Amino acid sequence: MNNYLINNKNKYDSAYNESLNNPEKFWNDIASENFSWYDKWSSVVKWDFHKAKINWFSNAKLNITVNCIDRHVKTNPHKIAILFEPNNVNEKPKSFTYSELLVEVSKMANVLKSLGVKKGDRVCIYLPMIPELAFSVLACARIGVIHSVVFAGFSSDALATRINDCNSSLTITSDGSFRGAKTLNLKNIVDDALLKCNDEQKVLVVKRTLEPIKMISKRDVFLEDIISGVDVYCKPEIMDAEDPLFILYTSGSTGKPKGMVHTTAGYMVYTSYTFKNIFQYTDNDVYWCTADIGWITGHSYILYGPLSNGATTLMFEGVPSYPDFSRFWSIVEKYKVTQFYTAPTAIRALARQGVKFVQGIDLSSLKVLGTVGEPINEEAWNWYNINIGKNNCPIVDTWWQTETGGILISSIPNVIPDKPTFATKPFLGVQPMLVDDNGNELKDNNIVGKLCINFPWPSIARTIWGNHERYINTYFSTFKGKYFTGDGAYRDEYGNYRITGRVDDVVIVSGHNLGTAPIEDAINEHPNIAESAIVGFPHEIKGNALYGFITLKDSSIDSNYIKSDINKIISNKIGPIAKLDKIQITTGLPKTRSGKIMRRILRKIASGDFNNLGDISTLLNPEVVNKIINNSL
Ligand code: WTA
Repeated sequence: MNNYLINNKNKYDSAYNESLNNPEKFWNDIASENFSWYDKWSSVVKWDFHKAKINWFSNAKLNITVNCIDRHVKTNPHKIAILFEPNNVNEKPKSFTYSELLVEVSKMANVLKSLGVKKGDRVCIYLPMIPELAFSVLACARIGVIHSVVFAGFSSDALATRINDCNSSLTITSDGSFRGAKTLNLKNIVDDALLKCNDEQKVLVVKRTLEPIKMISKRDVFLEDIISGVDVYCKPEIMDAEDPLFILYTSGSTGKPKGMVHTTAGYMVYTSYTFKNIFQYTDNDVYWCTADIGWITGHSYILYGPLSNGATTLMFEGVPSYPDFSRFWSIVEKYKVTQFYTAPTAIRALARQGVKFVQGIDLSSLKVLGTVGEPINEEAWNWYNINIGKNNCPIVDTWWQTETGGILISSIPNVIPDKPTFATKPFLGVQPMLVDDNGNELKDNNIVGKLCINFPWPSIARTIWGNHERYINTYFSTFKGKYFTGDGAYRDEYGNYRITGRVDDVVIVSGHNLGTAPIEDAINEHPNIAESAIVGFPHEIKGNALYGFITLKDSSIDSNYIKSDINKIISNKIGPIAKLDKIQITTGLPKTRSGKIMRRILRKIASGDFNNLGDISTLLNPEVVNKIINNSL
């Protein structure tokens, strides 16, 4: 049976059973029938979760850009691959057909080659959401260079950390970016970052805002100065299935960010297959995901998933509030978008502005709506369903992670029904499992537990760049032999999963993963700060926001001055997205006898839940709890 298109429940049931009982055959068929290979694999999957060793399609040879571009150039050269909607409404939009995309990607790849990068090297991409971002990503993949895209909202320190961690030798950036009414000078940020990197750095600069920037000779070069001299075709590099395709950094509970490494074949097969089915993409559809390519959602579901299916994918440079809060819906109307995929935080922010920004706009092209990045509350779900979907579009609430590469739990339009606030069922080949704190499987339904995955899927990350031990420790040691997601989940009586949120020290703010430890490390460097503890608390729009409890070395210091300093430091060290919403200066933090800060109590206080603090008898300094409650914000 051809399982590529799952379009009814019977097919899902039989394919899901096959994917569990005979995963090798299942994935063998999906991979052989739907992609282009230079050489097939010697085995489908080899894995050992104890050592975190996972191989898919061993020894197969391919190039992912041939699958994303060249094969569609053969069958459908004039189909639009990428639609580009600029930030400014009066600027002309752009579009690129599959054959134009091949030329753009080839040229960019030849530019990269002329700058001396080669297969296996790392290139850092720090660009706004402009077409050159897509071209750069695909150009790297074309020539076997490992891309590391860094979201252009990160600070120079965060950028430097990422450049140094993977030892990248070239950064692609732009003079600046347009974000709503503002422009941001990105090149200055790169210049600052490179002061903290080795001397072997090169910078390729795309012109976008045309504001004046400083160019350092021998190091910096404008794209436009070299691109006209390169060939319009670049031969694809033949890659091994397990060659790294990219590194993408995600925050962890401790220390520096984790460079998640995704490899080529498994990532391609899984993102392509999930895209096709979860969005039920058909030939003339126009698909739009509002994420930034700086996050995993953009990698998998703006670029690789859609393009490998020969889809039309829309890239939007701007923000939902500019020039006003109808922008998203105007874009849907303008391009007749059929699938629309966004984050709950955006839905909440838009819902708050009222339906007047939706009224009078024709949204009848929409067939499927999606959400990603954080749990969606029922109110936001209903608003989305009624005002955008007009009660007529299935909503896919897609649960997944940077580490998983693709969507693992989601409904499927007209196949697996949606259920408000539930991600619902595992995708084909995915074996979720709930466990208790000791790792015992909770087999019953109607139960809450920690969410693990029991079997590898093709796009699981293979390692953390330069630190396999950390990979094993973070994901495969808490519950031996299982991949631990860091999320809690509830399974209802029908086997639908609802994600309840993180169970570690990661907080999801506006859909962005933020580890609290790196933020604490950053602000503890302030000369007047003794200690800090940061926790998440519920926020109407952002889902969660950050609350910092701070103790000072010298309590006579003006606390207003400290508070403004703290957010400045965070902006510099990490980026504005990690700023604290609430800062409480306190004389002490609740600690265990071994000196560990009891964040569990601070989390309760931050969310105003003073009556359920749990057992505080093991605290070294229980008296501090009441003081903190009395002064809480
Ligand atoms: C959370 C984003 C509830 C979850 C693709 C996960 C979600 C983390 C959902 C990964 C969802 C993502 N419902 N929670 N549909 N999707 N999450 O790495 O806590 O940026 O572990 O990947 O976001 O965030 P990341």
